[in-house]
Amino acid sequence: MWWIILITLSLVLIHYLMTKNFDYWRNRSVPGPHPWPLVGNIGPSFIGRRSTGEIIKEIYRKYEGFPFVGIFRATTPVLLVRDPDFVKKIIVRDFKHFQDNDVEVDKDVDPVYAGTPFILKGGSEWKTARSQLSACFTPGKVQSMFPIMQKSSERMVRYIGNEISISPQMESWDLCGRYTLNNVATCAFDIEGKCFDEPHPSFKQFADEFLGYDHFWSTIKNSILLLIPSSTNFFKIKIIQDQIAQKILDYITTAWKHRKENGVVMNDFIDYLYTLKSGPIPFTDLDATSRASVFLEDGYDTSSRTMSFFLFELANNTIVQETLRQEIMESYRENNNSFTYESILKMSYLEACLNESMRKNSINGQLRRVCTEKYTYTPTNPEFAKISITVEPGTSIIVPVGAMQSDPNYFESPDEFKPERFFDMDKIPKYSFMPFGEGPRLCIGKSFGKMQIKVGIVHLLKNYRVTVNQKMQFPLKYNPWYGLLDVIGGMQIDLHKIE
Ligand SMILES: *[C@@H]1O[C@H](CO)[C@@H](O)[C@H](O)[C@H]1NC(C)=O
Ligand SMILES: *[C@@H]1O[C@H](CO)[C@@H](O)[C@H](O)[C@H]1NC(C)=O
Ligand SMILES: *[C@@H]1O[C@H](CO)[C@@H](O)[C@H](O)[C@H]1NC(C)=O
Ligand SMILES: *[C@@H]1O[C@H](CO)[C@@H](O)[C@H](O)[C@H]1NC(C)=O
Repeated sequence: MWWIILITLSLVLIHYLMTKNFDYWRNRSVPGPHPWPLVGNIGPSFIGRRSTGEIIKEIYRKYEGFPFVGIFRATTPVLLVRDPDFVKKIIVRDFKHFQDNDVEVDKDVDPVYAGTPFILKGGSEWKTARSQLSACFTPGKVQSMFPIMQKSSERMVRYIGNEISISPQMESWDLCGRYTLNNVATCAFDIEGKCFDEPHPSFKQFADEFLGYDHFWSTIKNSILLLIPSSTNFFKIKIIQDQIAQKILDYITTAWKHRKENGVVMNDFIDYLYTLKSGPIPFTDLDATSRASVFLEDGYDTSSRTMSFFLFELANNTIVQETLRQEIMESYRENNNSFTYESILKMSYLEACLNESMRKNSINGQLRRVCTEKYTYTPTNPEFAKISITVEPGTSIIVPVGAMQSDPNYFESPDEFKPERFFDMDKIPKYSFMPFGEGPRLCIGKSFGKMQIKVGIVHLLKNYRVTVNQKMQFPLKYNPWYGLLDVIGGMQIDLHKIE
């Protein structure tokens, strides 16, 4: 008899633990969907049915007219912000109340990842790391890396030529990944990435291992980091493995040694890291590794995903592609049959097309912040219900960038690819379009990323017409296990040489 009581008691206890927070938002009169025990409102993403981005988009739509929605990520209360005015306050104006990203990484377990500005809490260490990295991506620095991007592009064009002599079909992300990684290899490590030289380039294998692709445990770790960030300390989760960190450092120190022995000065990323090492602020090998890992992650992964969706959109919208090609060819001729840093910056249709692709395909989907100082918000925008909220320190915040960028109130027919909408930036409400975030945590590599994507696309379209491979099925299915936008089965395109 007693064991029935024991089981009942444990079930009651488990149920209590799984639901104990669930009156959090009700207590504060914040509207929101009813949560399920343990999984909260993101159940379908736990079982791999839908990505968190899709779930958030759905909740966002359902609560139209509310400035914010209270949801539960597993059992953690999270505030989903809908009102662009509130968004502005969180990420720009009242930044000091929300200065940290909602990601926990234990410094003792994973020092390299913990040392990136993305993870560092908004204190002096973060400021230093951030300003050190920002200095590497000023317009002048990006311009100095332009010739490297040109070289990779030319290499890519030759690679495509070889590949399509066998079959026109290619996978967009694979192609773009080779290209961006080839740039990053040279820009960040001063090595030849050789990403177009072999089917499985060794540098790409290293980079993919760094990002944890194709590893079951990495996927699980990424999911935990995303769904239950506070538990990463408990599970001692390590994103950047020791041997990978060591390899990054080896690349850097090899380059330093080579330069010192040969008296080479290039004023690039590697030289800059060396200057920091001998500068007044303590700068360890660990710091150098950490800075370089940011370059590798964003310059390769985020950039290649953005570019692959861009290329795919162009393949699927042939009229836009033709119009863009005209702009490219005109600029090419006007510049003595060449592309320059300035001429590429000047292409306004290219800029609008890239914006439109980033709007429609939000790679990150959300900005995740955590409240660091108590904050009270009352909406002033008449479009939103007049309900106030006081956010307590420690509360997780989600700014649903992907959902906002496909909100028909801000972008008419949001599922259509219409670059023209960006010709009238005044019509686009502020803080409803933020592919790089905004405010003090704005993406550091923004201008590098945009430039490398544009250079690659310009060379590609000059030489090849792109179409969607017949095997592609719409609507696209997104990988629910991965934090960034990722299409299951890839994005298959066909390339055709322009004679
Ligand atoms: C909600 O309010 C009730 C009554 O004041 C309180 O007992 C409970 O602890 C609160 N729950 C949360 C999660 O804040
Ligand atoms: C591709 O274009 C077709 C027709 O224009 C459209 O129905 C489809 O949604 C587009 N796919 C993507 C991923 O944009
Ligand atoms: C145009 O390019 C050619 C060959 O690359 C070069 O010799 C010439 O000086 C260039 N002219 C101008 C105006 O830049
Ligand atoms: C593209 O978006 C950026 C914001 O990321 C904006 O500053 C720029 O004006 C936009 N340009 C065009 C042509 O759409």
